[in-house]
Amino acid sequence: MCGIIGYSGHENAADKLIHALTSLEYRGYDSAGVTLFAENGTVTLKKQGRLKNLQQLLADNPIASVCGIGHTRWATHGKPSDDNAHPHVSGKVSLVHNGIIENYADIRRDLERDGAVFLSDTDTESAVKLLDDAYRQTGEPLSAIRQTCEQLTGSYAFAIVFADINGKVFGVRRGSPLIAAYGQDGNFVASDITAVLWDTRRYISLDENEIAAVTNDGIVVTDFDGKAVAKETKTAEWDSESAEKGGFPHFMLKEIHEEAESVGRTVAAHIKDGLPDFQSCGLSRQFLSKLKSVTIAACGTAMHAGLVGKTVTERLAGIPVRVEVASEFRYGSVFLEEGDLFVAVSQSGETADTLAALDIAKQHGARTLGIVNAAGSALSREADGVFLTMAGPEISVASTKAYGVQLAALYLLAIATAEAKGKLSSEDARLFTQTLLTEIPSKISEVVSRESEIRTLASDFMNAKSVFFIGRGLDCALSYEGSLKLKEISYIHSESYAAGEMKHGTISLIEENTPVVAVATQPELFTKTISNIREVKARGANVLLICPANFPNADIADTVFNIPATSELFTPFTAVTALQLFAYHMAELRGRDIDKPRNLAKSVTVE
Ligand code: M6R
Repeated sequence: MCGIIGYSGHENAADKLIHALTSLEYRGYDSAGVTLFAENGTVTLKKQGRLKNLQQLLADNPIASVCGIGHTRWATHGKPSDDNAHPHVSGKVSLVHNGIIENYADIRRDLERDGAVFLSDTDTESAVKLLDDAYRQTGEPLSAIRQTCEQLTGSYAFAIVFADINGKVFGVRRGSPLIAAYGQDGNFVASDITAVLWDTRRYISLDENEIAAVTNDGIVVTDFDGKAVAKETKTAEWDSESAEKGGFPHFMLKEIHEEAESVGRTVAAHIKDGLPDFQSCGLSRQFLSKLKSVTIAACGTAMHAGLVGKTVTERLAGIPVRVEVASEFRYGSVFLEEGDLFVAVSQSGETADTLAALDIAKQHGARTLGIVNAAGSALSREADGVFLTMAGPEISVASTKAYGVQLAALYLLAIATAEAKGKLSSEDARLFTQTLLTEIPSKISEVVSRESEIRTLASDFMNAKSVFFIGRGLDCALSYEGSLKLKEISYIHSESYAAGEMKHGTISLIEENTPVVAVATQPELFTKTISNIREVKARGANVLLICPANFPNADIADTVFNIPATSELFTPFTAVTALQLFAYHMAELRGRDIDKPRNLAKSVTVE
C-alpha cells in the first residue's frame, strides 16, 4: 500500500524523503513524488515507476529545502501515471494519502459542478480540493483539516503541507496507520517506523482522529476537538540493521534464513514454567478450559497459517475451529457469541479486511485475540488480548518468517487449550512446547542449510507455465501456502488442491511434464497420497515430492526433497521452509523482482 513520509528538520529534506521512501519500497508502489518547500512556496515533483525516476527528476531540479512530504503510490483509483502520482496539489495545499476515500466521486461531482478542474483520476484529489477550500475559508490549518475530514468517508492517513506555513508538516490518521518520529536533526511523520529506522527508533503512534503537527523542534498532537493529546514516546524494538538486507541478495532470502530464530524467539517469549502462557494475552486457563470453538480470521499467508492452526487445534483440543477469509467474513452468517474466542492473525496488524472482521467479532461479544508481529499496530491496539510474534521487521512482500511465527503462536494456543481442557497431559504439553522451542528451530535451520539442493530442484521446474500443489490434511493447508508463495513472486500460474480433489475436475489440466509438487508429511495419509501421485504421474506429470525419509515408494516421484524427521504434528514448519525456498529460487532463476513483486503491496490497508 502507499507509503507516506514527511520531514521537518535542519538537513536536506529531499535526501531524507528519498531515504525514507526507499525504506518504504517494500510496501509496493508504482509511482512516487515529493513536495518540498523552496524559496517561494512549494515545489512538487512526481514520476511514475521506480524511485530512481523521481531521484533523476530531483537531480535535474535540485531544491534546497529542509521540509517536505513524500509518497510511494500503490494505485487504487486511476492507473499508475505521473498525473495520478502523489502529492496532489490545490492552491496552497499539497497532500499525500494512504487508504481510500469512499465518497470521492460525490465530492468530485459537486466540486466540478462549481467549476473545479481535476488533474487526476484519484480519490485523493477530491480531498485536497476540499482542504484547499476549507483553508481559504478558515485561514487556519488545523480547523481546515478537521473540517475537511468531517466530509470524507472511508479510511485514510494524510501528510499535508501548506505553502505559506514553511517548516510544518501535518499528519492525520483516520483508519490508516501513521506514526510520528523524533529524528536526530528533525522530525517525521511516516506510514510506519521502518521508514525512519535508519535515523531514529523513537516514535509515537497516532490514534484515530489525531493530527500531528511536525516541526524541526517538536511534534504536537491534537484530537478532532482541537485538544492537545499527550502521547507516549515509544522505542522501536527493531533496529535499522534488522530492516536491511545484511549481505543477502533479497530480503525474502534473508527472512527465510531468520525463520528458525524467529520461531524460537516467539516461543520463548510466551512460555511460563515450560507451558504456553496465554494469561498475559488475556486468556486465562479457565477461559481456555471452557472454550467450545475458535474462529480464526486472516488474509493470504496469515489465513494459511490459520488453516494449519485449525487442524492442530482440532486434533489436540478436540474443538471445532473455523477459518475465515477476513475479506469475506462480513458477508456470511456470524456464529459468534459471548465466551467464544476470535483470533485475528496478521503480520502487519494493519490489514483492513482483518481489522474489519475483528470489529464484527467484537460487536458479537466474542473475546478477541490478535496474533500480530507489529507492536503498536491497529490490531495490537484493538484486540482484547495480544500475542506478539517476534519475527522482527518483514520487508519482503512475500511473507515467510511471519508465517513461521504465526504457526508457532497457533501451535502454542492449541497446546494451551488442549492442556486446559485435560485433553493433553501437562507432561505432553511441556514436551510439545519444548519441541517448538528447540527442536523445531534447529530442523528449520537444517532445511535452510540445504538451500542449494532446493535450488537444483527449482531449476528443473523454472520454465513451467503452471504448477500444481497437492496434499492431504495438514499437507493440504501447507500446499495453499506453497502455491501462493510461488505465484506471487515468480508469476507462474499455480493452483493448490486437496490431493483427493484433483480427480474431480482439475486433473484434466495435467498433461505431459506438468509440474506437480506433492506434499506428503503425514504417515497415516501416505498410502492415499501415493494413489494421488500415481494418478497425476499416469497423465504425464513431473512430480516433486516433499516428504520425510520414511515415506514409502518415494521412487514414484521424479524428484524428492526429504524434510528432516520430526513428530508428524510439527512437519509444517520444515516443509513450508522448503516450499518458501523453492518459490524463492524459481523466482530468482526467472529474474523476478522478488521483494517487490508486481501489483502487490506488503500491507493491505484498503478493504
Ligand atoms: O499483514 P498481514 O499478515 O495481515 O497480511 C496478510 C496478507 O496480505 C499477506 O499475508 C499476503 O498474502 C502476503 N503477500 C503473502 O506472502
